[in-house]
This record gives sequence, C-alpha cells and structure tokens, in this order.
Amino acid sequence: MLSDMLSRRDALTLLAAGLATRPTGAAAQGPVRRRPYAVAHRGASAYAPEHTLAAYQLALDQGADFVEQDLAMTRDGVLICLHDDSLERTTDVAEVFPDRATTEPGTGRRRWLAVDFTLDEVRRLDAGQWFGSSFRGARVPTWEEAVELVRGRAGLYPELKMPVLYVARGLDMTAAWLTSLRRLDLLTTAAEQVIVQSFDDAPLRRLAVDLPRVARTMLVDRGAASRWLTPDGLRAVAEFATGIGPAKPLVEGRPDLVAAAHDIGLGVTPYTFSTRAPAPARPDLTEEIRYYLDVLGVDAVFTDNPDRFPRTPRRA
Ligand code: G3P
Ligand code: CA
Repeated sequence: MLSDMLSRRDALTLLAAGLATRPTGAAAQGPVRRRPYAVAHRGASAYAPEHTLAAYQLALDQGADFVEQDLAMTRDGVLICLHDDSLERTTDVAEVFPDRATTEPGTGRRRWLAVDFTLDEVRRLDAGQWFGSSFRGARVPTWEEAVELVRGRAGLYPELKMPVLYVARGLDMTAAWLTSLRRLDLLTTAAEQVIVQSFDDAPLRRLAVDLPRVARTMLVDRGAASRWLTPDGLRAVAEFATGIGPAKPLVEGRPDLVAAAHDIGLGVTPYTFSTRAPAPARPDLTEEIRYYLDVLGVDAVFTDNPDRFPRTPRRA
C-alpha cells in the first residue's frame, strides 16, 4: 500500500492535501477516497485532562493522525485551547479567582468566562487536577503552544468555537487565528496538515475566501441537521467547506448520508467515539469505529481514544 511506503509526515501531507485541494461547489463532483484517519478529540482525552499538553502528547504517542484543539480567547486576545467558553469545569479558577465570576441570567449559575481573564491569569490555573492528581500542575495551553508540540508529528484540527461570543469584546477570533498561522509559518510549511472546523458557517465562509488551501469542516449537531444535511443543505455546505462533521447518530440514522456527501466532494468525520460513552449496540469502541469506517464509509472519526482506532480497516 502506498501509504505504507511513505513517511508518517508525507502520508499526513497527502492525506490532508486530498481535502485541501478538492474544489468546492459545483466543481466538487466525484467520489472521495482516502485512507481513514483518527482525530484525537481534545487530545487523548479519555486518559488525560482534555486540552492539556499531556493529552496532546499522549495522542501523539498513541498514533493519532490529527490532534484537535477547541479554541477560546482571553481578554487580551490570545487564542487558548479550551472546550467551554468558561474555565470552571476544567480548571481551579473558582478557587484562584473566587470573586471574578459572572452570574448567568436565567440560571443564576456562576461562570468564569475565559474572555474575562488575561493570558497571565489563565496561566496561573491548574487544568489537570480535576481529572486526576497525577496531572496536577497541567496548564491551559495556548494555540501556539499546541502547534509547537504537534506540528510535524500529526495534523492540527482547530475548532473556531463560537466566534460571535467575542465580537462584543472587540475580538475577531478568525482574524486572530489567521494571524497566528502566518506568525507560525504554518501557511507555507504545513497548510496541508491543518483542518479548521466550526459549528458556525460564518468563519468557514470567510476562510474559504481568505484561506482556500486549508480544509474546512462544517460541524453539524442534531439541531442543525435539518439545515445542512438535506440534499440542498449539503450542496450549500460544499460552497464553503470541504467536509462535514456530524454528530455520529446523524450518520447512523441516515446510511445514505455519507454517499450523498461524497458525491459532491465532501468528506465525513463524525464525532465523538469514546470509551466514556459506549454505544449500547456496539460496546467495543474499536468495533464501533470499524463499523463507521467499513460499513457506513466515513473518512475519519473524532475519538477520545486514539489507541482504539483500527489501524487495519477492512474497507475494500
Ligand atoms: O469538533 C468535533 C467535536 O469536538 C464537536 O463537539 O463539543 O466536543 O467540540 P465538541
Ligand atoms: Ca470540538
């Protein structure tokens, strides 16, 4: 097999380039065929605290092809790796900054929004202890720190999470991300090893114009399925994205979806496969992933367990 003869880095480059160079829109006809690949969801987050360098390093050690970074912004405009828009679930912010919470209207919940803290303040937080005492001292990494760890060893799969949240603070997440790619020289040296994703079509539409070489995945949850996963919806997605990232029940519930996406040139990368949320019908995670790859025909998966990704898929 050709990929067996290539170095890991070459294989990654070719693999992502297949996405990055595929034309979008009406020109994006034809079947999609690539080697299936694993995206480490928030790092190897079944085994290490999500979005820490420890979780990213473990993902690399476990052979992940791509490592995901959910992105948020600090008050001083720095991109950090954080799934939530607030810090209290995955750090000790409530103990370190007890007086800095905002109260959520409606629920009355106290929240420590990332955008209310500077990077220096975020660096004081422990992002590992909540997961296990052996991870005490882990920090919230910046996007650029994640790039430095992962680049050249696996692809990067950043998610621009809720860019609209930052507009009122005068922060442009998409612009900040573009600037970082230039500063890190990712556009000239490794554009093919970056796939950007979002649940928001606006940043992807913008990047389709400003950064067409980089692959773009439109994430689709249950609430957005009726908009994006119809024949018309998929054609609309193909105008600005190179792939879809549906919640996995949306794929299992519609076995025709993958072929429909492939027919107009869209890759399919469902989320999230995890030992922490076993599927009742397929409790063995490797077998579940194999079913999605071999039977449903998806191209890649987001998984908390990169070590459970089947490296010898039976797809013909
Ligand atoms: O980005 C794919 C998957 O991670 C989407 O779900 O909530 O984990 O970001 P979430
Ligand atoms: Ca994500």
